[in-house]
Amino acid sequence: MKKLYQKEWFGIKFSTLGVDLSMEKVADVEFYRKFYQEFYKKFQGYSDLPKEWRNLKDEIVTHIDELVDKKGKKILSIGCGTGYVENQLCEIRDNMEIIAIEPSVDMTRWINKKVTVLQGVFPSALSENYTSDQFDLVFASGIDYVFDDPSYTNFLKSVVFFGAHEFLLTEIFVPETRWINYVKDFIKILLESVGLRVAEQSGQFWGYMRNIDEHIEFLKDVGFSSFTTGRYDHGGYWIIARIG
Ligand SMILES: C[S@@+](CC[C@H](N)C(=O)[O-])C[C@H]1O[C@@H](n2cnc3c(N)ncnc32)[C@H](O)[C@@H]1O
Repeated sequence: MKKLYQKEWFGIKFSTLGVDLSMEKVADVEFYRKFYQEFYKKFQGYSDLPKEWRNLKDEIVTHIDELVDKKGKKILSIGCGTGYVENQLCEIRDNMEIIAIEPSVDMTRWINKKVTVLQGVFPSALSENYTSDQFDLVFASGIDYVFDDPSYTNFLKSVVFFGAHEFLLTEIFVPETRWINYVKDFIKILLESVGLRVAEQSGQFWGYMRNIDEHIEFLKDVGFSSFTTGRYDHGGYWIIARIG
């Protein structure tokens, strides 16, 4: 597992947000509130977002669309963020039914009205009206990195407890394994320890990056027993975890 730090996102420098940044604690509600204030000032719609970002997400849209083709059209998305993926799925298929959960307030203001957005965290955001057997696909895209180990286990346990026998965990980024990156990290730490380089202080602790074997261990620990994995052209990975 590798810790991630970030200084900007979507071209918005965190140092301009007027919040205290932390190299130890992950971004909190106040950070995201301020961040999205700036985000929605800077961008007016999905088509304003950087092309590279949209291209990357479009690979996930295509992947989910292919899965839905085989499995059915009712989808549960956990942690939809701005809702780009869910929005595009609705745009390309008329009969898509999507329930999307997102804890941050007012983050999905551009999303297609056909998507039902439930504000809150999984699973508590789902009322008793929703049961796992109503969904043909349950997925979470790009949310693994927000969890430390105990909260990742709890999150995955809640997916199993909800009754999802199949779960797509997608948009996973894994730590770089090329030796040159180890050497770069080693030199950075060495220079900082002898005072020749100032440790970066203006960043924000962003989360955790795990390799695919580590993810599979977490998934096995909560009861998933078989796995299919793949990699997108943009470098991110996906895992379909199944029970039984
Ligand atoms: C980086 S965003 C990914 C957004 C989106 N899925 C995408 O692919 O662009 C991660 C999102 O997960 C949400 N999240 C974190 N923990 C969650 C939980 N327990 N239940 C639901 N959403 C959660 C966060 O609020 C955040 O918007």
